[in-house]
Amino acid sequence: MLRPWVLRIILHRDSSASVHRQITHAIIAEIRAGRLAPGSALPGSRKLAESLKVNRKTVVQAYDELVAQGWLAADSTRATFVPSQLPNVEPGIRAPRQARPSGKIAEAPDFRLPRRPPALAYLPRADGMLAFDDGLPDTRLMPVETLARAYRRALLEAGRGNRLGYGDPRGSEKLRSAVSTMLNLDRGLSCAPDNICIVRGSQMGIYVAARILTEPGDVAVMEQLSYPPAREAFRAAGAEIATVELDSEGLRLDQLEALCRRKRVRAVYVTPHHQFPTTVVLRPERRLYLMMLAEQFGFAIVEDDYDHEFHFDHRPMLPLASADRGRKVVYIGSMSKVLSPSLRIGYMHAPVPVIDRAAAEVMMIDRQGDPAGEEAVAEMMSAGVIKSHTRKVLRIYAERRALLGALLQDAFGADVEFLLSPGGLALWVHFDSSIDMGKLADAGRRNFVSFLSGSAFAMTDAPVEAARLGFGSMNADELRQAVGRLREARRAI
Ligand SMILES: Cc1ncc(COP(=O)(O)O)c(C=O)c1O
Repeated sequence: MLRPWVLRIILHRDSSASVHRQITHAIIAEIRAGRLAPGSALPGSRKLAESLKVNRKTVVQAYDELVAQGWLAADSTRATFVPSQLPNVEPGIRAPRQARPSGKIAEAPDFRLPRRPPALAYLPRADGMLAFDDGLPDTRLMPVETLARAYRRALLEAGRGNRLGYGDPRGSEKLRSAVSTMLNLDRGLSCAPDNICIVRGSQMGIYVAARILTEPGDVAVMEQLSYPPAREAFRAAGAEIATVELDSEGLRLDQLEALCRRKRVRAVYVTPHHQFPTTVVLRPERRLYLMMLAEQFGFAIVEDDYDHEFHFDHRPMLPLASADRGRKVVYIGSMSKVLSPSLRIGYMHAPVPVIDRAAAEVMMIDRQGDPAGEEAVAEMMSAGVIKSHTRKVLRIYAERRALLGALLQDAFGADVEFLLSPGGLALWVHFDSSIDMGKLADAGRRNFVSFLSGSAFAMTDAPVEAARLGFGSMNADELRQAVGRLREARRAI
């Protein structure tokens, strides 16, 4: 039974209404307002009488009357509570609001919500469901003990050093410094901490970049298959989204060039390292060409290097930002894949004036991140913990990638076609056109396995006979079960 925090009853001794009537009215008002939700227990009559400083008999009389009217119910222990079925009220009187079990009122607001909502849905995972996500890490592998120790140290030090107040919106100096060293050594950039702004995940970096780079009516370009939250971030900034096709070498630059001749393109969002969702690596010649187009047409490139840590076959390709002589690139990275999405630590790299603008946006959004968390991660980066963790999990993910490939081949044979992606934590799998992807996804969910079919990433309505199947977050047993369930789902359609 739910217990209300406080029962709001204010008695007016000078009122012409009797005390027991005032109590009954106050309780009905609380039920109607949804503050006393169905299932909520009322205080015992003795307790309520004491708190209201009235005779207990008065409270008993009020409770009895409310029980008789159906507003309250009494169980065998004589406890009084709000029943799930409330009485019908007379015409002309507003029906009691249906309260949710949490006590929240489930009504539409009585004010305007301008702008359409972003086309993004959060789907909570059902119990027992195995999910081919879009390429998430296995957070069970995260070095939580080390992080917890580093966090404890950082919190104590920041507390003693009086650094737990408001600080630099660009993030902690230690983390900006550790990130710039990592980007210089691992990703071929040549940057200083002043080129870095720490953000709460790369999604916030993309949102901030969209706000800085585009105004209402400007054109932002994405590939026809891309990352929907990035599209929605640019839309939220007022940008018009234009799309170009992709082929086996990545973004079609002939189409981008033609678009730039027709429209004033301000920003191009790309994931060149492993294209999201198709995993294609943007070829070196196209990289040079893209940079040249940025020079020629004056657009900014938003480079989302979202999972650069995981590359299986050869040395990872360096990002566009490493060859950015013309300072055209806003580079965005994240600790979400290498550690955990729940840390909410990402970073932006750009010329200093852009970083200053980003910091001003951070001030408006959430002021700053968590200095202790940032310093803990900085310590782990400087001590080489994240490097060795990455090496360890890369081996595990390589095995899972190979296993998923073999399982899919075994279960679907000629009905699937895919390349073992050179990097990242997902495979892009083409299904035979005889398989209806929507039906397969529905049958899969009924069989407790979920996946994102290609149309979830499409910027147009063209059908996509493919799916992005993440392999990082499931262990070998789970992968076997998930593919088995998918095979059964295929049989069922
Ligand atoms: C392509 C891409 N960009 C950005 C993100 C956002 O990641 P985060 O905000 O956790 O860094 C994701 C998350 O999966 C992603 O796949």
